[in-house]
Amino acid sequence: MDPEAVERDGLALIAAAQSLEELDGVRVRYLGRRSDLKLALREVRDPETGRRLNAVREQLEAAVEEKRAELERARLDRRLHEEILDVTLPGEPFLRGHLHLITHIRREVEDIFLGMGYEVVDGREVELTRYVFDALNMPLGHPTRSPLHTFFLNGDVLMRTETSPSQIHVMESKPPPIYMVSLGRCYRRDTPDPKRFPIFHQVEGLAVDRGITLADLEGTLAHLLRALFGEDRETRFRTSFFPFTEPSLEADVSCFICDGAGCRVCEYEGWIEIGGSGMVDPNVLRFVGYDPEKVSGFAFGWGLERIAMLRHGIPDIRLLWQNDLRLLSQF
Ligand code: DAH
Repeated sequence: MDPEAVERDGLALIAAAQSLEELDGVRVRYLGRRSDLKLALREVRDPETGRRLNAVREQLEAAVEEKRAELERARLDRRLHEEILDVTLPGEPFLRGHLHLITHIRREVEDIFLGMGYEVVDGREVELTRYVFDALNMPLGHPTRSPLHTFFLNGDVLMRTETSPSQIHVMESKPPPIYMVSLGRCYRRDTPDPKRFPIFHQVEGLAVDRGITLADLEGTLAHLLRALFGEDRETRFRTSFFPFTEPSLEADVSCFICDGAGCRVCEYEGWIEIGGSGMVDPNVLRFVGYDPEKVSGFAFGWGLERIAMLRHGIPDIRLLWQNDLRLLSQF
């Protein structure tokens, strides 16, 4: 073995190594247990040759270490450069959903009444004619008893057309006083148009106690109207008719577009109708076993879609059922 040649070739190959793997190959070849150098060292007999060979070994080992450090540094530099991750960069926007406008209004109305000491009661969407018609003093010939108007499921089982039957369930379950609201879906066989949709939401309210008068009805609904539409809206009540109230009133709010001057939205009335109400008919109180000589009450039923449309100027109720985010994300 020629120490000079080993030293020269070894150093040259170490210097030329491009990667840690290549360097390791060179190290094994020149410094491994079965390399010429190691085999020669094992055979050494005289000190002079031993010193010479050990000097070559040390030089090669030092060169390998130096080259290894250099290659490791280069590899780290490369990774730092290539795999750069800037944690201060803004992330991908994450779209968050939110509640539907109708759900917002539903919760808002519930809060308004909870604040006045009312309870919020769940009603039933699938009802019996007894609760939807009979108990509410609807005469046999009333048009909503017809399957042309109402979704009947089976015999006297039907989808409720209004939330009013919730009044009866509550009154049947306990004696007065009653202060309750019940909000939920109603169903009617209507062809969809800008004002009607076969599924919609109502809020039903009922107060029954000793000495309840029309003034309580007006005060309560005026509070609701102002809470929903703001202090600036004027409110008024007109006489009307419902089989389950006597007298019956319809509430109007001054038009939010023209402020009462008259415009297309309010059909030049200056007022927009918001829903029905009245003093509970004595027949309804008698039906549930209450004594109309001792207690009286008021009730109301308003559409939540109508509230949404009036408050936000939504021109067509169908928009609220189309799940178009361009509309829904505005609220
Ligand atoms: N149920 C009526 C409707 O759907 C609204 C209504 C009017 C409810 C008067 C009431 C009320 O409780 O007293 O048109």
